[in-house]
Amino acid sequence: MSAPQQPRVQDLLGRPVTDLRVSVTDRCNLRCGYCMPRELFGPDHAFLPREELLTFEELERLVRVFAGLGVHKIRLTGGEPLLRRDLPALVAALAAVPGIDDLALTTNGTLLPTHAAALAAAGLRRVTVSLDALDDATFRAVGDTPLPVTSVLDGVAAAQEAGLGVKVNTVVQRGVNDEQIEPLAGWARSAGVTIRFIEFMDVGTTNGWDRSRVLPAGEVLNRLAAVYPLEPVEPVATGEVAERFRYLDGGGEVGVIASVTRPFCRTCVRARLSAIGELFTCLFAASGHDLRAVLRDGADDTALRASIAELWSGRDDRASELRTAEGLSGPRVEMSYIGG
Ligand code: GTP
Ligand code: 5AD
Ligand code: SF4
Ligand code: SF4
Repeated sequence: MSAPQQPRVQDLLGRPVTDLRVSVTDRCNLRCGYCMPRELFGPDHAFLPREELLTFEELERLVRVFAGLGVHKIRLTGGEPLLRRDLPALVAALAAVPGIDDLALTTNGTLLPTHAAALAAAGLRRVTVSLDALDDATFRAVGDTPLPVTSVLDGVAAAQEAGLGVKVNTVVQRGVNDEQIEPLAGWARSAGVTIRFIEFMDVGTTNGWDRSRVLPAGEVLNRLAAVYPLEPVEPVATGEVAERFRYLDGGGEVGVIASVTRPFCRTCVRARLSAIGELFTCLFAASGHDLRAVLRDGADDTALRASIAELWSGRDDRASELRTAEGLSGPRVEMSYIGG
């Protein structure tokens, strides 16, 4: 289905909006140190009250309006999105929105054995599963969890059995899980999934980011190529965040996401919505714009569309390009609040 033909919106750097990431909860059952360090996201942390969250009806309406502005790709994120009750009902509603041709979910995978089949039946096509180690000790240390790695591997298998496409994302931290790069790549090849190694980012202000813990994507690629020879794959769409490579032996694809050493703001077509309906125009923004207030003030679709178009037209974000050697400064939204 194609979206209703309407003029598309561009920001101050000429970038359209084609990709919307929708956070459906700020809660998670893991506590990865680079995202939700337990000291700061403990029992006293004030998560969003459930009654504050956008309803599925409100989310569907927003997605329809975004589709009219040029969005065709939706990614559901969290926190951990599978903690949101009845998520398949939302998937079904969003899959039916005209113009949405790509609907994906980012998850830590641990709840996929329970939910993969229902999500696929509702119209989800693919999932991206976070996995930072194959070794139990490292996995438990990074995720600050007693769960074993098999809880994620079983989730990947359940997704595959349900017919979902699977990608895996690995955040690499030097001295923490970088020894896992080759084993993870080997596992991904044998499991038939594309793995992408992500540079550790200074997203939010709680993860103790330090440039010395960033392993540049160039080094990751050199290490991979030493074991499995590679060649680059040309991007198929503008705005792809991952640089893609193909194993010369036919073992599939692997990618790197180099947002620290090779930022990709110039082609950034991603908008993000918090679980309470704030629009963030950058992963590193301090705050969002309250679309829930616009919705609940009784705006019709034309007025809602005009509000979003106005916000996007004034966008000039390019935080990763502006990062200095010390990293970013100033307040920034947390990754667990806005999704990946
Ligand atoms: P596919 O559509 O499956 O290719 O997904 P994707 O390439 O959009 O990647 P995904 O949504 O899995 O994002 C992977 C990771 O890249 C995120 O978890 C972030 O760490 C990083 N990332 C994604 N988008 C941005 C962005 O706009 N800016 C920055 N700095 N990092 C991003
Ligand atoms: N740096 C890079 N990627 C991160 N993610 C979360 N925090 C960070 C960070 N500090 C990514 C992880 C996870 C997704 C939800 O967000 O890949 O898969
Ligand atoms: Fe949870 Fe994902 Fe953040 Fe880890 S990275 S704490 S799994 S939301
Ligand atoms: Fe887009 Fe902001 Fe990431 Fe740059 S830093 S790619 S502008 S989200």
